[in-house]
This record gives sequence, C-alpha cells and structure tokens, in this order.
Amino acid sequence: MIRSTFTKDSTAEDVTQGIDLTGKNIVITGVNSGLGQESMRVLASRGAHIIGTARTMEKAKAAAADVDGKVTPLACELSDFKSVQSCAQAIKALDIPIDVLICNAGIMALPKLELANGFEQQFTTNHLGHFILVHSLVDSVKRAEQGRIVMLSSLSHKMAPKGGILFDNLDGSRWYKDWPFYGQSKLANLLTAVSLSKRLEGSNATANAIHPGVIRTNLSRSMGGVQGFVFNNPLTGWVVGKVIGSKTVPQGAATQCYVATAPELAQVSGKYFADSNEERPSRYGQDEALAEKLWDFSCEAVKEYL
Ligand SMILES: NC(=O)c1ccc[n+]([C@@H]2O[C@H](COP(=O)([O-])OP(=O)(O)OC[C@H]3O[C@@H](n4cnc5c(N)ncnc54)[C@H](OP(=O)(O)O)[C@@H]3O)[C@@H](O)[C@H]2O)c1
Repeated sequence: MIRSTFTKDSTAEDVTQGIDLTGKNIVITGVNSGLGQESMRVLASRGAHIIGTARTMEKAKAAAADVDGKVTPLACELSDFKSVQSCAQAIKALDIPIDVLICNAGIMALPKLELANGFEQQFTTNHLGHFILVHSLVDSVKRAEQGRIVMLSSLSHKMAPKGGILFDNLDGSRWYKDWPFYGQSKLANLLTAVSLSKRLEGSNATANAIHPGVIRTNLSRSMGGVQGFVFNNPLTGWVVGKVIGSKTVPQGAATQCYVATAPELAQVSGKYFADSNEERPSRYGQDEALAEKLWDFSCEAVKEYL
C-alpha cells in the first residue's frame, strides 16, 4: 500500500506545497462549488491552466472570475450528453495536452427515482456523463508528458447493491433506494479508473480513484427525510459533522489534488486513495471483470456521443 506523509488533516495547499504546475493543463468538472472550486483555486495558484466546467457557462465564468490564475470556463451539464459532447469537443479544439482530468462533479442520494437519458439520474450524471468526457479526452491525456485521470469515487461505493452494478435495473424500474443507487454510481466511478488503468498500460498516463472524506458541501442538498433535515440544518449539521469527524473543504480537496500532482505517483495507476494514502476498495471495486462489463455497457449506452 502506498503511504504518504499526509493525513486526514492535510489541505489541498499542503499536498501541493512546492509543486510547480506552470504549463500544465488541468480539466476539473463542477468548479462552481465545494471540492471542485477549492481544487481549481489551489491548482491554479500553483501555476496550472484550469479548464473549469460547470452546468452552465454563466456558472463556470462566475467561478473562474473568483480565481487568481488562468482559467478557461466551459459549460458541461453531465446529465445532458450533447452538452458533455460539446464540452469535450471544445476542449479538444484547444489542441493542448491534458495533464490532469479530475472528474469531480456529482449529486448524492436523491430521495426519489429520477431518470435522465433512460437511466437513473445518479448513474447518468455521476457515471455516464463523466464516461463520455473521459472516453473523449483520453487521447489528449495520453499526449501529456505524464497524464492523469482522477475519478471522484466515495467510501459510499461500499453501499452499492449486491452485485455491484444492477445491469438489469439501471433505470430503477424494479426498485430504487437513495444510498444504494448513489453507491452504485460511485462504484461505477471507481471501476472506470480500474478499466482505464488497464487501457493506459504501456503509456505514460494513469487513472486512479479517490474518496475525499466527509465534507459539508452543497452535495447534501438533495438528501431527503430526517437525515436531510439534520445534515442541512446549520446547527445540527455542524454537530453531526463534529461527531463523525468531517473535514473542511480545503481538507476535502486534498486527496484529489494529491493524486493529481504528487511526483511520487507518476507510475501509480488503478488505485484507490483516501486521506492522501492508498486504501483498499470493496470487493466489487477490485473486480476487473465487473469493470470491463461496465465499460462495455457504458460504451454501448452512450455510443452516439463518443
Ligand atoms: N462532500 C462529501 O462529503 C463527499 C464524500 C464523498 C465523495 N464526494 C464526491 O465529491 C465530489 C464533489 O462533491 P462536493 O462535495 O464538492 O459537492 P458540491 O459542493 O455539491 O459540488 C458538486 C458539483 O457538481 C456539480 N454538478 C451536479 N450535478 C451536475 C450535473 N448534472 N452536471 C454538471 N455538474 C453537476 C455541481 O453544480 P451545481 O452547483 O450547479 O449543482 C457542483 O459544481 C462529488 O463527486 C461527490 O460524489 C463528496
């Protein structure tokens, strides 16, 4: 297991201290909020050119305006595959190597079944939208001196249902529950890193997945019922955060920034990190056959947009 000197308390600034990213191009999805916003701020401060996406150009431009550094804002609505395709085409049109692609944007624990493009919304947004982006940009990542793809997974990938990915219920028509479906989407992010790492063998590019920790961000806004009320209320949410040992946003953004930039990880691929150290994922998260099945399924599901 790969160990670093960093801990749960390390921030994105700590893990990138002394790393010069001048001349590097870094794509980050979901830069208008939470961990994506903090990652953009810190990586831009280290000299990187950030290509920062948000659901709309207005949101992306507003987020970019807050950053001291070079940012190219772009629209990328992950549940709208045409929007993702246009975003990928706009990035490719820049004709630059992509040193890092951080698939960060996401939604969590939708209380009721929602569909987008015929699939459950979290599977569509968290997995399929990013899958199009990754598939379309992988050659640009390979063009970089040492390209990296970082998938935002979660400890919640361990909440994925029995079997890991419900290939016969991806539209939730048999049954739906908030956390198992969020877990499934985060397992899909993890398995994408596993499949990618196989496809990148022999190149200078790598793919890894991370769990950022538990951080109070806008992510919890969709959570329903009592848990949603408790977590989203400033006072009770703060108390729960203390009890479960939640991180601040600067600490939460650390692991993705570490995996995106640490020189010692140049040859490391197909791994899962938490608190800027390697961790063991669930049994499903290590299942290469499941990863391949998901890759093939995803290619077929979004083939019009690849
Ligand atoms: N916070 C945690 O405790 C935690 C734990 C484990 C994993 N994670 C993962 O960390 C990542 C970042 O989460 P966060 O905590 O920073 O949450 P956040 O503050 O809610 O940020 C999520 C970002 O994703 C964007 N997004 C949501 N739906 C989108 C869509 N359909 N198309 C494009 N962008 C979309 C949001 O845009 P809008 O603001 O416009 O909606 C926002 O920019 C997520 O992948 C999440 O699963 C977080």
